[in-house]
Amino acid sequence: MKTILITGGTGYIGSHAVVAFEQAGYKTVIVDNLSNSSLKTIDGIEKIIGYRPDFFEVDLRDKTKLEDVFRKYDFDWVVHFAWLKAVWESCEKPLEYFDNNIVWSIRLFELMKDYWVRNIIFSSSATVYTSPQPSPLKEREQAQSWIKEDFVTWNTSNPYGTTKFLLEVILTDLSKFAGFNVINLRYFNPIGAHESWYIWEDPDGIPNNLLPYIMKVATGELKKLRVFWDDYDTVDGTWVRDYIDVVDLIDGHLKAYELLENIPLSNFPPEGERIATKGFIDNFNLWVGRWVSVLEMVEAAKKVTGKDITYEIAPRREGDLGEVYCNPSKAKSILDWEATTSLEDSLRNSWKFYNK
Ligand code: NAD
Ligand code: WQD
Repeated sequence: MKTILITGGTGYIGSHAVVAFEQAGYKTVIVDNLSNSSLKTIDGIEKIIGYRPDFFEVDLRDKTKLEDVFRKYDFDWVVHFAWLKAVWESCEKPLEYFDNNIVWSIRLFELMKDYWVRNIIFSSSATVYTSPQPSPLKEREQAQSWIKEDFVTWNTSNPYGTTKFLLEVILTDLSKFAGFNVINLRYFNPIGAHESWYIWEDPDGIPNNLLPYIMKVATGELKKLRVFWDDYDTVDGTWVRDYIDVVDLIDGHLKAYELLENIPLSNFPPEGERIATKGFIDNFNLWVGRWVSVLEMVEAAKKVTGKDITYEIAPRREGDLGEVYCNPSKAKSILDWEATTSLEDSLRNSWKFYNK
């Protein structure tokens, strides 16, 4: 049975990956330091799959404890989710984001190399794309068509996006010179929850993200939503994003896994060769191709929850990108993947949790 190390596996997206890969017949092992999640997630995963996944509370910066995990298992794959991920915080603490996200990933890659684990799916991000200059609404459809996977430039919009871009650069060289087989998956705004509602997006404290914040306003836990500015050239002046259901997103990870599994990958160099053979690498945008503005999300949430969502217009948030979108066609054609869950169904699954 293939064994997959899932870093950040008690987090929002990682926990959904654990469920999906276990249900697909793979063995997963979670490494997480619980800095932005809790053991409640392990309980939730157990309720869904019927047994507790292997979990190790390890900080990726602790190479000794991380190596103990590599010694216990013969990993075939790594799916790398563990990350500091708040865009606004990365603008306030850029060095902390570089020190953590890049340095601890290098510790992980050192162990992958030492233990001959060469296959990795990296949870990258659409923030590697330079947000195009705000284009008049009528040109956006055309603009979306050209933001394909090769439209990556160094000129990212915030330190968080820079850490994702830099890691992709490092992984490109590891595939060229250390035989790593790499798939970078770029996505932006996952929403929703597993239909069982035993696992969900449950960040500690006040949510950064739009949907958990709206849900807490709907429950009355928070008084009102601050809408970060409303004078953009969009349908209603508020920012648009491509919100993707987390279960659809994880299906994209499984499809990426199957792609690599079907390629004759050489983890081991031919006899006598000093350097592992050149590895495989590819990038995919996992997007719905559906733009939703902040106020459209508010209206959709009011419809699904039946609650009023009070909001006020507030100044723009540091690090916020402009409209962000890209061309989702490559994942459809090569991975045979596309997102199918409606916005309302994603909100309905989230609301089942918040309204418990
Ligand atoms: P999350 O914070 O819920 O999950 C990240 C997990 O990593 C948490 O459980 C946290 O405890 C763990 N972690 C952080 N630092 C660690 C460390 N040093 N050692 C071990 N574990 C550590 O975030 P998420 O929304 O599930 O995001 C998962 C991945 O997807 C991240 O790489 C993020 O950048 C990426 N991503 C997220 C979004 C989004 O909007 N949520 C969009 C695109 C990409
Ligand atoms: C969505 C929209 C806000 C909260 C996400 C991930 C981050 C990174 C980038 C990808 C924006 C507006 C939000 C609020 C608001 N992941 N908003 N009031 O900023 O797109 O960042 O993608 O790699 O990890 O979080 O997502 O949900 O924070 O904001 O008006 O209280 O909602 O301005 O336009 P964002 P978000």
